[in-house]
Amino acid sequence: MNVTSKSVIYPGSFDPITKGHEDVIKRSLALFDKVFVAVAITSSHNKKSLFSPDERVALIRELFDGQVGVEVILFDGLLVDLAKELKTTVIIRGLRAVSDFEYEFQMAQMNRQLLDDIETVFLAPDQQFSFLSSTLVREVTTLGGDVSGFVSPLVLERISEKL
Ligand code: PNS
Repeated sequence: MNVTSKSVIYPGSFDPITKGHEDVIKRSLALFDKVFVAVAITSSHNKKSLFSPDERVALIRELFDGQVGVEVILFDGLLVDLAKELKTTVIIRGLRAVSDFEYEFQMAQMNRQLLDDIETVFLAPDQQFSFLSSTLVREVTTLGGDVSGFVSPLVLERISEKL
């Protein structure tokens, strides 16, 4: 089912991109023609980073190389300004559990205050990724744990190089 012939923005920190993010991108592609995966330089979460924003963009580009409908971009400033620039009115966010809801709802409402015709569409990732977050992947990996089940082999390779 293709809801409408539209492009959407899937914004995030993606530090690093996990299998959960990849799942949301694939689900978005099943519904929309084009997905702008937008790596934010400024996140509402203040987190210690593993990869620089440029490294994250390069990694996601490599991961989706040849995939029609996926464009990876870096952005700074407000997400709604990027939406205006790309002439896109739909933001995609993954919703894993009830615990995500408050933060996601706040962002969706704030974005709508800032830009009236913006809509946020929440997609539920596959159940096997419902516990997964970049924050946990970063923590586990920096403490020497195995994250091979949670990120693609290419991402794992880049993490090993980084460490
Ligand atoms: O993966 P994250 O860190 O949960 O993503 C959060 C992100 C990047 C989507 C959010 O912080 C964002 O949109 N940042 C851009 C700046 C902005 O527009 N802030 C106001 C959001 S209501």
